[in-house]
Amino acid sequence: MRAIVIASQKGGAGKTTLAAHLAVAAEVTGAGPVVLIDTDPQGSLSDWWNSREQDTPVLAAASLHDLPAKLVDLAAGGFKLSVIDTPPAITDQIASVIGLADLVVIPVRPSPHDLRAIGQTVDLAQNAGKPFVFVVMQAKPNARMTTMAIAALSELGPVASIIITDRVDFAASMVDGQTVVEVGPAGKSASEIQALFKALNKHLKTKDKVTKKGASDGTQTEHQFVFVWPHRHEGRGQAGSSRGR
Ligand SMILES: Nc1ncnc2c1ncn2[C@@H]1O[C@H](COP(=O)(O)OP(=O)(O)O)[C@@H](O)[C@H]1O
Ligand SMILES: [Mg+2]
Repeated sequence: MRAIVIASQKGGAGKTTLAAHLAVAAEVTGAGPVVLIDTDPQGSLSDWWNSREQDTPVLAAASLHDLPAKLVDLAAGGFKLSVIDTPPAITDQIASVIGLADLVVIPVRPSPHDLRAIGQTVDLAQNAGKPFVFVVMQAKPNARMTTMAIAALSELGPVASIIITDRVDFAASMVDGQTVVEVGPAGKSASEIQALFKALNKHLKTKDKVTKKGASDGTQTEHQFVFVWPHRHEGRGQAGSSRGR
């Protein structure tokens, strides 16, 4: 089982929205069974799930303390992917959740405040030696700020080339436990989320393949992001990574 951990120090960045949407997109794409885990005491993801009629994705309860053992159990139970939502903070507990990730997804709104706050979340992923990717969320189409945000983020790490636009249906669909994938499967919002999941999943699968081949240095993952904007620090301290663009 692969684990995607969604993290950002900033409240309102889009963590819970992304967790629910990616999990549903994964189920729809056939990448499941998927399990959602809500580690935020505010419980927004759990509230969303409780108002939902569909049985999938499943929500599993886990305290931060027993999360590692819980993930082992869930994997043994046949789950293929876990999507873990986290609270907006920088704590040792969040660091330990990030330590369980195969991929850390960092949603960022294209705003100066959000960009200024991103460094500590990046530090958590880097200190844990985990691959991470920024997802620009709630972007206004054609706004200069979005382009500036992508440029600024790409200095820090990989940025997903799929940008999630600011659209009412992302919030409205979640009111009664759904997502844009379900309320408007043919719409623009659904296609963004599906494309984003596909890109993230490609990364997770590439990791599987490389791991199966017996790569031992564990540093290959960051440079397998075939879907991201290039960023300037490629190759820094990454033994064994030869791909540059
Ligand atoms: N792409 C989007 N378009 C419009 N609203 C969004 C989008 N993504 C998130 N939101 C809204 O932004 C707010 C914060 O999102 P949320 O997922 O709760 O953030 P976090 O979990 O990081 O605090 C919510 O009201 C949510 O509905
Ligand atoms: Mg949240």
